[in-house]
Amino acid sequence: MVAISDIRRNIASVKNLGSGLVAVFVGGTSGIGLSTAREFARYATAPHIYLIGRNEVQASEIISELRSINDAATVDFIKSDVSLLKNVDVACQELLKKETKVDLLFLSAGILTMKGRTETIEGIDRKLSLHYYSRIRFIQNLLPTLNQAAAASPGSFARVISVLGAGHEGKLVDGDKDLDLQKNYSLSNAANHSITMTSLSMIQLAAANPRISFIHSAPGGVNTNFAREFHPLTKYLFNALFFVLSPFNSVIGLVPLQDCGERHVYLATNPAFAPRGGDKVETLGADGEKGSGAYRLGPATSIVSHSSLLQGYLDSGMGKKVWEHTVEMFKKATGTA
Ligand SMILES: NC(=O)c1ccc[n+]([C@@H]2O[C@H](COP(=O)([O-])OP(=O)(O)OC[C@H]3O[C@@H](n4cnc5c(N)ncnc54)[C@H](OP(=O)(O)O)[C@@H]3O)[C@@H](O)[C@H]2O)c1
Ligand SMILES: *[C@@H]1O[C@H](CO)[C@@H](O)[C@H](O)[C@H]1NC(C)=O
Ligand SMILES: *[C@@H]1O[C@H](CO)[C@@H](O)[C@H](O)[C@H]1NC(C)=O
Repeated sequence: MVAISDIRRNIASVKNLGSGLVAVFVGGTSGIGLSTAREFARYATAPHIYLIGRNEVQASEIISELRSINDAATVDFIKSDVSLLKNVDVACQELLKKETKVDLLFLSAGILTMKGRTETIEGIDRKLSLHYYSRIRFIQNLLPTLNQAAAASPGSFARVISVLGAGHEGKLVDGDKDLDLQKNYSLSNAANHSITMTSLSMIQLAAANPRISFIHSAPGGVNTNFAREFHPLTKYLFNALFFVLSPFNSVIGLVPLQDCGERHVYLATNPAFAPRGGDKVETLGADGEKGSGAYRLGPATSIVSHSSLLQGYLDSGMGKKVWEHTVEMFKKATGTA
């Protein structure tokens, strides 16, 4: 665990990382993504920030806000419904026209819904897509630019952060036979699959990309716009509950939104979460240990240790199967692996 005062002291030095860092926030128009973009804008020197989301009105307000925080920041919005993998590809193409390097890819687009399986026209459940497939597609498309960022300067910090539920990995129903939950969909299974597949894929990605860090974070309870898809009354109660509980935040583990953003800037920049480095290929599964390049972090910025479930999946080669499944889904949805 790292105290928030230490986090704040530390992230002030982000200005020393050089000017012109490129940071992409998928889900940067609200909540954790926005809070992280805001704190990043506060400390980085002349950064180039991209926000990706659907809400254009919100985005233009944020662009003004971020520029008022840092007048040397460049902020662009790419409008996209990223629950479709084809849209992810288009958004990435737009980005690649403008940038040759990406230093930070921050993935927090997501939804809280109690609905059952809801297929997109690509045949993927919308929630599973937003929390897992679409995020991995962004990573895959932007790997060359992340590697470019890593190569650009020796002390650079090319990083990917996915905000989901590290430490809450759960059982994969029917092993590798129903990973996209066509048959056994439930909210609990959807949470388990997206979280477990994120951890496994990030460990695979870190092994294959030694110059990039892959960070899976569990933010804890944060009062954001996350309940937007709920009935207004439910949403109201949700907010009221957060308000009433706020004096007890530290006792019950709620994280103030700004702290959450600051903690994620720390994860994005601190050398403690450096890439594996070099080109030597080590054995898979060393995640959470210093120097593996894949990290799982809890709400208070503490490394989450492997559960026996996750270790079992790593030992039995489930990471590779999940990766192959993911690429197969990409092929089906977009025509290209
Ligand atoms: N808040 C918490 O307590 C909490 C706890 C655990 C995990 N998490 C995880 O953290 C992530 C972020 O949550 P949050 O609390 O920051 O939520 P939030 O305030 O609702 O923000 C979600 C973001 O996702 C974007 N988004 C949603 N659907 C999209 C779509 N189809 N296409 C493009 N963008 C889309 C939204 O942008 P637009 O509206 O512009 O489309 C928004 O920027 C979620 O994945 C959630 O699972 C949150
Ligand atoms: C999800 O995973 C958790 C933790 O392993 C487990 O307790 C729960 O039963 C799982 N859900 C389902 C539907 O299997
Ligand atoms: C998953 O669905 C299949 C097909 O409906 C079924 O045979 C299997 O028992 C289900 N698995 C679990 C763990 O419920």
